[in-house]
Amino acid sequence: MTIISAKKEGGYMPKTLTVANWKMNGNRKLWKELAREVTAGMSEINTKVVLATPAAAFADVSSFLSEHSKVSLGAQDIHQQSSGAHTGDISAEMVKDFGGKYTLVGHSERRLEHHEKGFLLNDKVKQAIKEGLVPIFCFGESLGQKENGRTLSVLEEQVNEALEGVVLKTGEELVLAYEPVWAISSSAGSLGREPSEGELSEVFEFIYKLLLERFGESVASNVKLLYGGSVKADNVAKIISNRYIAGVLVGGASLKADSFLAIARGVASKPNEV
Ligand code: PGA
Repeated sequence: MTIISAKKEGGYMPKTLTVANWKMNGNRKLWKELAREVTAGMSEINTKVVLATPAAAFADVSSFLSEHSKVSLGAQDIHQQSSGAHTGDISAEMVKDFGGKYTLVGHSERRLEHHEKGFLLNDKVKQAIKEGLVPIFCFGESLGQKENGRTLSVLEEQVNEALEGVVLKTGEELVLAYEPVWAISSSAGSLGREPSEGELSEVFEFIYKLLLERFGESVASNVKLLYGGSVKADNVAKIISNRYIAGVLVGGASLKADSFLAIARGVASKPNEV
């Protein structure tokens, strides 16, 4: 009920979104099966989903999607420049050419394995927006930072660095995903659990406040805030009940269509617009 009154008061209530991060998993057989089953299952689920797939899966996955489908294609990373001599990278334009609408930016695995941070991620966010892709900017503290009581200062630094100089028209051009590294099921030192309701409230109120200060209410209230890390069908209801959480980013549980669809169904139960 607080959610509904928040809307009346003009508070935070963007459209819901569920994002699958397939990471570097699967093969053409699995990608096609997942795309087929997710698109079929979504016909009766009232929310939007993004499949952030390996670039090698773009052609297969996009053949199951249509322009107005509730299921969109996303990349897991883009280069900060438009084209050129950048061996191994993909550009925003290539993603769009396959019908892609979103890209993850700054996932903790990119930060850890490819040393991505700060200015580089700021450039990637700006490049995505400039090219008309919605960046899903991922940020989150490590276990050590959490244990040292540095959660909020680390998040503030990551978000402020990424959004430096970013100009938004409506707020719908940007998604932020809070993914504490200690909650990501496959990360080294993972606690293997999602944050408590208290931990989520503290972080999401703080992040929304940062957005308000930076963009003002009419834009901040359209920026989707997602939670990611050990999201499953049986904890999504608790997560999504936080008034500042508009959806979830799902790793492991997105590799099976039935568990991913169950999570999307949980997100769709939130009374936000679609
Ligand atoms: P998980 O991964 O759902 O397997 O914890 C989330 C992520 O890394 O985006």
